[in-house]
Amino acid sequence: MKFYIKTFGCQMNVHDSRRIEEILTRAGHQLTADSKDAELALVNSCTIREKPWHKAISETGRLRKRKLKGQNEDLIVGLVGCVAQQEGENVFELLSHVDFVVSPDNYTHLPQIIEDIQRERKHVSVTGFTEGRPEDFLSIQSVSPYEVSAFVTIMKGCQERCRYCIVPTVRGPERHRAPEHIFEEIHHLVSLGVKEITLLGQKVNAYQVGDVTFASLLARIDQIDGLERLRFTSPHPRHMTPDVTSAFGQLRTLCESIHLPVQAGSNVTLKRMGRRYTREEYLDVVSRLRKASPKISISTDLIVGFPGETEADFKETLSLIREVGFTAAFSFKFSPRPFTQAQKMDDDVSEAEKSSRLARIHELVNAQESAFRAGLRNTVMEVLVEGKGRMPKQLSGRTRNYQIVNFVSPETIEQAAGKLVNVKITQVNPNSLEGELV
Ligand code: 5AD
Ligand code: SF4
Repeated sequence: MKFYIKTFGCQMNVHDSRRIEEILTRAGHQLTADSKDAELALVNSCTIREKPWHKAISETGRLRKRKLKGQNEDLIVGLVGCVAQQEGENVFELLSHVDFVVSPDNYTHLPQIIEDIQRERKHVSVTGFTEGRPEDFLSIQSVSPYEVSAFVTIMKGCQERCRYCIVPTVRGPERHRAPEHIFEEIHHLVSLGVKEITLLGQKVNAYQVGDVTFASLLARIDQIDGLERLRFTSPHPRHMTPDVTSAFGQLRTLCESIHLPVQAGSNVTLKRMGRRYTREEYLDVVSRLRKASPKISISTDLIVGFPGETEADFKETLSLIREVGFTAAFSFKFSPRPFTQAQKMDDDVSEAEKSSRLARIHELVNAQESAFRAGLRNTVMEVLVEGKGRMPKQLSGRTRNYQIVNFVSPETIEQAAGKLVNVKITQVNPNSLEGELV
């Protein structure tokens, strides 16, 4: 059967969609990039805020129209991802044209579910969490041509229970993957030509299995021959212990860039969010990172308009953005979610005020980002070649601090993919850097 996947949400979902592709392809199905061709359509959904929840529901609605209009009556529609875990069988009441609902821990069952539905049309719902045994972590079997950067899951779930966050409900309790299986997967990927690994987990740096800590895991991965770059996402500031911060600058592969969600700059708001660190503790992590790796670029996530956030609290977020010098930030309006403690709080910051705070953050972060990027002009940076560039004869890749660079090369992507090259930055565009090979 030809299948199509539409993915919403975080890198975890992007990674999961690739695993679903692999599972279905191995079961004899074929991926198609065009939903019109599909006999099976999957929506991999996110529910972190109300907006992505709506997007997933309306995407399934769009597929339904096609079914109803008789264009594709036999189309099998599946909802997977975090909304699947959140809603379970309720989805069929909301959207009766959906054939199945499967949550993230249950993707290995997909081939069987699809076979059952092909045989006899019915609603199937498989949700709930696995235990975290080795086979419960889906590892990458194969990579596409020139895929030089890959994700490796080291833990799943989260039990931090930040008061705004639905993740513990939809991704379940924390389960940490056995170190040998992590190494095995990375060795396999490196043998396929992968040069860069991003370790994935909802609270990735809380990793601990026996006496293997996150820092010791990083150190052991760093030793793997053929691996050039190591990153991880997303860490929690509370677990940025000195052994982790000092790994930057010490480990050959660990890149000079980190995404470290802070959420807010005011201690009052942080406390009400249940973040379990203070502004001062976050700044201490930042200063340790900068000491270990002076050029590290730091990005973050921010929430505006959390219940009770005053103008004075918000100004503390702005001042923290300046103090840290974030070079990028994803910022969001607080969105009350089911099963969270914040849903019971008074969502007392008006929509207009949330919009205005978001705009003020954007303005400040954009200015910092532009200044940071302007400073890269005329520097020589190491680029990992990952794809074709914007223009003919150009290749593109990322620097260690995660900037995209386009440059003219005598080599084709087939020849150059996965190579590390030095590029002098000649031009700074809004979304990319242009450079020339040195
Ligand atoms: N409302 C707004 N933003 C949220 N995030 C998580 N939950 C919510 C919510 N209820 C944001 C946080 C997190 C990012 C992935 O999404 O900033 O780091
Ligand atoms: Fe969205 Fe969270 Fe699920 Fe990722 S884990 S897809 S951010 S709800």
